[in-house]
Amino acid sequence: MCGIVGYIGPRKAYPIIIEGLKRLEYRGYDSAGIALFDGKDLKVSKTKGKVADLEAQVEKEITTSGNVGIGHTRWATHGVPNDVNSHPHVSNSGNLVIIHNGIIENYESLKLELISRGYTFKSDTDTEVLVNLIEEIQKQDNLKLGKAVQVALNQVIGAYAIAVFDKNKPEEIVVARLGSPLAIGIGDNDDEFFIASDASPFLEYTKNAVYLEDEEMAIIRFHKGIKIRKIKDDSVVETFVQELQINLEQIEKGGFDHFMLKEIHEQPKAITDTYRGRLLRNEAIIKMAGVEDNMKKFLNANRIIIVACGTSWHAGLVAEYIFEDLARIPVEVEYASEFRYRNPVINEDDVVIAISQSGETADTLAAIKLARSKGAFVFGVCNVVGSSIARESDAGAYTHAGPEIGVASTKAFTTQITVLTLIALRLARAKGTISSSDFRTHLLELELIPKKVEKALESDDNIKAISKIYKDAKNFLYLGRGYNFPVALEGALKLKEISYIHAEGYPAAEMKHGPIALIDENMPIAVIATKKGHYEKVVSNIQEIKSRKGKIIGIVTEGDTQVRGLADHVIEVPETLESLSPLLTTIPLQLLSYHIAVMLDKNVDQPRNLAKSVTVE
Ligand code: AGP
Repeated sequence: MCGIVGYIGPRKAYPIIIEGLKRLEYRGYDSAGIALFDGKDLKVSKTKGKVADLEAQVEKEITTSGNVGIGHTRWATHGVPNDVNSHPHVSNSGNLVIIHNGIIENYESLKLELISRGYTFKSDTDTEVLVNLIEEIQKQDNLKLGKAVQVALNQVIGAYAIAVFDKNKPEEIVVARLGSPLAIGIGDNDDEFFIASDASPFLEYTKNAVYLEDEEMAIIRFHKGIKIRKIKDDSVVETFVQELQINLEQIEKGGFDHFMLKEIHEQPKAITDTYRGRLLRNEAIIKMAGVEDNMKKFLNANRIIIVACGTSWHAGLVAEYIFEDLARIPVEVEYASEFRYRNPVINEDDVVIAISQSGETADTLAAIKLARSKGAFVFGVCNVVGSSIARESDAGAYTHAGPEIGVASTKAFTTQITVLTLIALRLARAKGTISSSDFRTHLLELELIPKKVEKALESDDNIKAISKIYKDAKNFLYLGRGYNFPVALEGALKLKEISYIHAEGYPAAEMKHGPIALIDENMPIAVIATKKGHYEKVVSNIQEIKSRKGKIIGIVTEGDTQVRGLADHVIEVPETLESLSPLLTTIPLQLLSYHIAVMLDKNVDQPRNLAKSVTVE
């Protein structure tokens, strides 16, 4: 939610910041703004809309010279998306300028206090309160900027990643984080510094980065380096520089029209990368350090509780089937946002698995903090290396999907399922709940999945033709049973979020308890009816739909004839084990939502009102 970028060094700051904002637009795109120190004065330009709108406006409004600057792309929380509420925000004196990702929860009381001291506010934002609070503290006690930021943050309740500078001392930027990510790129000669919500804005300039931890702040000085301190007690923190493993290619579209399409097509490689080095078929073993090191915890667990949001929650639902089926461990799957607020019964015999692509989702992060405070062992399944959830977990396994930029999750989902399948198989082997021949069959089949995903992707033209027929539908239903019930939910979520068509996912058998009332000749219904897993039952459900004239899009196993005879359209996927089928059946549903959204001329990668990483609760 919101992307922040900053630069201080010998180069011109503007192009670095504007290009950086474009890369961070996945975090929010309600408005954008930039503040530059042009050598003489502070120049600010901001606007409702996207970074491209800002770019069009900037050169008409301000000079773009200067070697120091900060920029922001916003996902609105406090205050509607308009020019005034856009960041950066400037303090009353005009000296301090700030960008902020997060929420200051006690901003109203702080604002009243500042108003009583004569401050005025232009915007409805919590951020404008923070910059004036810093100014007031600086003024009252004649403090340096870093110290004033520190005192102010100790009065603040909420979450933040901020960057602030003083136009009278533009050789210094102060940054801080609590609950929202903040990376600092360090130039080769230690004479330039990049600030960003993730490393993507500075990948072409440096591979060296420092990730601030929660409750840390850094003072970044041109030519003098960075100094990191704890916000609470001012203690000095040793600077730990990491070498970045991602490259520029991974965050570009690579010839595809949209990131989402690129990421759909990356799935064969992403799934391979997920099991590479972990699935050792010749030796018939699965090796995962995070599981091995904590085997006792898993084997003695009363139950596994999975916490996640959105698509990651759907992956958790698939995992529930896998863990219970293969490893015979009871599993509960919880929306992190519900779990954290309902006083859950949880203790040290529980294993909590948190699933999150970004590793920054606020509710999931809060859920694991709660679980840990009650003594549970927390295992994180994240994609973004070094993310907050990965760091807050006791142990974990990365999905290794590579950067996912499209707001609609695709490869994150299939790689999460892959990791969770590996864990379930490893535990099943350790518990003896799977025979060695079944175990080998699973390993073999899992290794074949990338090729089979490639095959599933070949249905693209067929899916495009089907999309054309149903693109103007007002509603869609998605049905599946067993392992494919969560895939139905995921298919519906994909369509909703990028095409804005109302869609619902249901367990196929549940249809007759309500949703069947919606079915008429205008209702398209995607039914997952693969050969393994309640096939005959699903065929009966299809009959029920047909007799009510619903339009059936069957997702079927290659060579299927029975559903073909009943459905209006079929999309084939290769045959596999029932437990692995979600990795294939989800592919046509991703493509269906993609094509419909493109045909409706929607912004596929940046759907309205959404953001890639939801760092507010
Ligand atoms: C999926 O397409 C969505 N963009 C969203 O539901 C997402 O999965 C959810 O916000 C959780 O994100 P996370 O995996 O980064 O925690």
